[in-house]
Amino acid sequence: MNLLEIKDLKVHYPIKGGFFNTVKDYVKAVDGVSISIPEGTTYGLVGESGSGKTTTGKAVMGLNHVTAGEIHFNGQKLNEKGRKVNVRDDIQMIFQDPYSSLNPRKRVFDIVAEPIRNYHKRSKEELINEVLGLLNRVGLPPGSLYKYPHEFSGGQRQRIGVARAIALNPKLIIADEPVSALDVSVQAQVLNFMQDIQKDMDLTMMFIAHDLGVVRHMCRHIGIMYHGRLVEEGTTEEIFSNPQHIYTKRLIAAIPDTDVDEVERNLALRQKIKEEYDQNFDENLDEEGRAFPLQSISKTHRVALPVKG
Ligand SMILES: Nc1ncnc2c1ncn2[C@@H]1O[C@H](COP(=O)(O)OP(=O)(O)O)[C@@H](O)[C@H]1O
Ligand SMILES: [Mg+2]
Repeated sequence: MNLLEIKDLKVHYPIKGGFFNTVKDYVKAVDGVSISIPEGTTYGLVGESGSGKTTTGKAVMGLNHVTAGEIHFNGQKLNEKGRKVNVRDDIQMIFQDPYSSLNPRKRVFDIVAEPIRNYHKRSKEELINEVLGLLNRVGLPPGSLYKYPHEFSGGQRQRIGVARAIALNPKLIIADEPVSALDVSVQAQVLNFMQDIQKDMDLTMMFIAHDLGVVRHMCRHIGIMYHGRLVEEGTTEEIFSNPQHIYTKRLIAAIPDTDVDEVERNLALRQKIKEEYDQNFDENLDEEGRAFPLQSISKTHRVALPVKG
């Protein structure tokens, strides 16, 4: 069963201007995106900065308006503002920057306990035990309880963010570039630990990244976004062994050497992809510079191929 189904989502932001401050145009941040995520799996949403990944995640969270399209969660259609009250605690988001997403004036106890307090009546002692359990789950020592965010490293801070996100036992986590702000040396550690949490709690996850290498080992399906649309989507195997869109190939060729197979490491091939990308990229986009409609080339593999003729 699909826990999340996004159907032809459009999020357009009005650009106002002129003497009467009227709407001059729209930024089509998301322009017709459909994504389904089977329950208990991780979906990697990948694309360069500004491609519309965060806007897609926020639309699911109900954090921005939806211009068109539908979002279904656990079989329920979420309303125009994003979602119904009764599913609020079932969807949680983890943000890119653990420095700014945690309140610096609050202790870890209050940061992690806050969502629980908002939804449940608990004694102080029950709350402390619950938060200690969550800290243990994300690999932070009990002594973290009364410390402030600045007393932790970036990786540890992201663990605090995860503890808070899982506090209400959600079904879906939207992780928006959770390792992008971290040192490369701790990225793998945080990725592994998030993967463990996902398995342990049988979570469904939308994992947003700008680098294909980051999502490779944790996602069942991958969708590649460019300028508000998906250019390609498939199983991780299909995306890596049989990429079709030149943009997808370019992203694979951009993965650092340490993380790729023999074929991908082949410099001549990388060079060829770069040349093909530089010469033909525009031909793979419509006149607005956007991806063509997706066409299925297998049950799970969809590609935005140029419309012929
Ligand atoms: N609140 C907003 N108002 C106007 N434009 C926005 C707003 N939020 C995002 N955008 C624009 O929408 C596009 C997609 O942004 P975003 O979803 O943040 O991309 P990503 O997360 O892939 O970097 C960008 O061009 C961005 O400038
Ligand atoms: Mg973003």
